[in-house]
Amino acid sequence: MTTETDQKNDCSSRCLPWGITIFGLLIIAVLIAMPFLAGEPNAEKTPDIVRFFGHFHPVVLHLPIGIFSLIMIQELLAMFTRYKPQTGIMPIFIGAASSVVAVVFGFLLYMGGGYEMSELLEDHLWGGIVFASAAILTLIFKSWPLQPGFSTALYRVMIFGSVAIMSYASHDGASITHGKDYLIEYAPDSLRKILGHEPKEKTEDVPVKALEDQIVYADMVQPILDKRCVECHKESKSKGKFRMDTYELLVKGGKEGNGVVPGDAAKSNIVYRCELPEDDDEHMPPDSKAPMEDHELAVIKWWINSGADPLKTVGQIELPEEIRAAIAKLDLAVDPSTTKSVPDAPKTDLPSTELVKAVAALAKDFPGGLTFQSQASSGLTFTAVSLRNNLDDSVFSKLKTVLPSMVSMDLSSTAITDDSVKLLAAAKDLRMIRLSETKITDAALNTLAGLKNLESVNLYGTRVTDAGVEKLKSLTQLKRLYLWQTDVSEGMITKLKEALPELEIITGI
Ligand code: HEC
Repeated sequence: MTTETDQKNDCSSRCLPWGITIFGLLIIAVLIAMPFLAGEPNAEKTPDIVRFFGHFHPVVLHLPIGIFSLIMIQELLAMFTRYKPQTGIMPIFIGAASSVVAVVFGFLLYMGGGYEMSELLEDHLWGGIVFASAAILTLIFKSWPLQPGFSTALYRVMIFGSVAIMSYASHDGASITHGKDYLIEYAPDSLRKILGHEPKEKTEDVPVKALEDQIVYADMVQPILDKRCVECHKESKSKGKFRMDTYELLVKGGKEGNGVVPGDAAKSNIVYRCELPEDDDEHMPPDSKAPMEDHELAVIKWWINSGADPLKTVGQIELPEEIRAAIAKLDLAVDPSTTKSVPDAPKTDLPSTELVKAVAALAKDFPGGLTFQSQASSGLTFTAVSLRNNLDDSVFSKLKTVLPSMVSMDLSSTAITDDSVKLLAAAKDLRMIRLSETKITDAALNTLAGLKNLESVNLYGTRVTDAGVEKLKSLTQLKRLYLWQTDVSEGMITKLKEALPELEIITGI
């Protein structure tokens, strides 16, 4: 009886460590071999069951994170207080086992397709494998009888090392799921600066308001009246006792009666006056002024006939093809004489079939990167977020045909040079460009200085200098310029601000 128990004890004190060691090393070998054996993910050939388990990756991964963090905190407390943790082998076993399951599920998730094998993903995969291996090694170490002193120190090194690898791997994972700067996205600028990130970018750079969402009165009718009529029909100068600078007064009219009769353009005085023969004394605007254009009058009549509602959007009123064409001709944003300009109106002309085809053809080179600003717009936006360093001058040149339609481009952190920027000379409608952290130099700013519609330019972390930036003085529409971490001097910033008082310069200081 006694001998039997002894033997049992004997085995459990030696068999268990050996068992754990051999089995543990075997699992490490399998984990390391896994990416090599499985080959490329193939979404079509992958059975659903793979995806089923893959989707549990985000669930399982929190268990090893929790366990190893807890063990680390206990060991830290033990180092600095008199607390003595009694961590048995079981928590480490559960931590290591769950980390293996998390890695395998993560790998299944990746095999299920939908992810490009990016550098980040590869880092994350190997980060996970190295962490699971470190966890197993810690388990193996812990399973052997430990020598106090020496072993405790080594054990702590293994725990802290595992947690370090785990943090690295989970940070990559979070970046894949939430995007790279998720944690510091809303951090104060001062903190972002310490961490080497540019200040938060204001999001209203390129407002996207679809044609359907434009308010007919506020976005189209009133701007036309502002341009053609209001200078003589306003508070300080109301000819014929008729003011056209607010909706109520416009409808109310002047001495002769209603300015606008909702639902009936023909009876509305503003239309009647404009449609009189040009040599008629009562024709509006008077002789000296440029007459209302046909498409402008068409839009106004369409609005009045639809009920002259002050709040209705284009999408809420039936829109015949001629009116859509007329709206497209309204160039409301550019007339400098208007009091109420509409600077944020997107391009509202419909894209041509060639442009739609060109964009579709480019979709495989730039998946998700090239899109129309809105459904009813021929303006294009481009973002290199998914390509970054893979976008170089030769890749960029593929965009050549569509550059004239571009309104917004994010080229930050790409491998492009001044050569690509030269091509941008064709992007006359460009309003927003991000060139941060690229290799561009002052030469690129020659090109940008010719793009008169630019409203926001981001040059953060480039090698531009005073000589280059000075050229941007000619960009009168420019509202925001990011010069953080460039060689531009304080003196030049002051100069720019003098030349362009409306300009906000973001220097991170
Ligand atoms: C250069 C100044 C000027 C501009 C610009 C102008 N008007 Fe007038 N408008 C007048 C004068 C002066 C009168 C009064 C004499 C008259 O009734 O013809 C008047 C009167 C009117 C009246 C009659 C008001 C009433 O009830 O007695 C209407 C309607 C009118 N304008 C519409 C327009 C519209 C629509 C436009 C823009 C397309 C316009 N005007 C632009 C000078 C101007």
